[in-house]
Amino acid sequence: MTTAAGSTHQRTARLAFATCAGLPDLDPDDHELREALDAQGFPSDVKVWDDPTVDWAAYPHVVIRSTWDYTDRPTQFADWARRVQRTSTLLNPAAVVAWNLDKTYLRDLERAGLPIVPTIWLDPERNLDARAIHTRFPAFGDFVVKPTISAGSRDTGRYEAGQTQSRSLAITHAKNLLGVGRRVMIQRYLQRVDTEGETALIFVEGEFSHSVRKGALLEGPYRAEEHEGTLYRQEAMTARDASEAELEVAKRVVAALPEVVPGVDGPLLYARVDLIPDADGHPVVLELELIEPSFFFHLAPGSAQRFADAIAARLG
Ligand SMILES: Nc1ncnc2c1ncn2[C@@H]1O[C@H](COP(=O)(O)OP(=O)(O)O)[C@@H](O)[C@H]1O
Ligand SMILES: [Mg+2]
Repeated sequence: MTTAAGSTHQRTARLAFATCAGLPDLDPDDHELREALDAQGFPSDVKVWDDPTVDWAAYPHVVIRSTWDYTDRPTQFADWARRVQRTSTLLNPAAVVAWNLDKTYLRDLERAGLPIVPTIWLDPERNLDARAIHTRFPAFGDFVVKPTISAGSRDTGRYEAGQTQSRSLAITHAKNLLGVGRRVMIQRYLQRVDTEGETALIFVEGEFSHSVRKGALLEGPYRAEEHEGTLYRQEAMTARDASEAELEVAKRVVAALPEVVPGVDGPLLYARVDLIPDADGHPVVLELELIEPSFFFHLAPGSAQRFADAIAARLG
């Protein structure tokens, strides 16, 4: 426990950041955030979301951060979020967690008129055979196979439609995911990511905060052994100002959330919109991160302070 300078009172953390067992001290990028909150008189604890000894009710506020291992146990994670919310204010709320866990939320965005990466969805219940999966793949060009519940590019592979061997690897990949009851997404590989990268736009309380560039990540088929023991694929991040077109799309996505996400009626503490350019250069939504996005504070001076201020205002 820390003692506030100039105060005789011991300071008890009334805020917990939720993380995963693999990162018991949070992602280093978040340290600046905790320090900024500390400096404002809001000390925090860091707790592992699935540690059964944690008394979440002891914290009036719980902010989700690097809980990246939940993708193997999404139901358990959603239950945890609901449970925490019974006794604490969870940010973002449990309803948002439940909605945002599964990339099928992209369909809701699409229905709301927002541009997403065109996607074909395969449901495990349909028991698709190899031939049926094969017919869902594009006839030419590169394409991506990934599960709807994932993070850090895990279980995500890139294939070449024109190559028999690559197609059959893609079929195996899709079959393996479907076989364990996971829903699968098939997308064209949007080539411009190779030259222009992906842009992540971060919003705090519904207001645009900062943006960063992520280099292309997918080189080929998914190989489980490359991911053994890692939480995410190594990402090449740099600072980048979003274009007008990117800002426009991302702002529309954030503005649409109260209409699209059940149980949301005001701005969310945080949101990250990941965009890549489609074949015509128009930004389309690859991912909307409302649960545990990295914010890349170190690439945007002032952004950790901005986020800390927003949390402090909520703690009041
Ligand atoms: N359709 C696509 N075109 C190009 N790159 C893609 C595509 N889908 C995924 N990727 C690459 O794979 C990475 C991970 O995919 P993403 O959909 O963001 O899932 P997650 O980050 O949740 O694992 C992206 O950052 C991007 O580099
Ligand atoms: Mg992503």
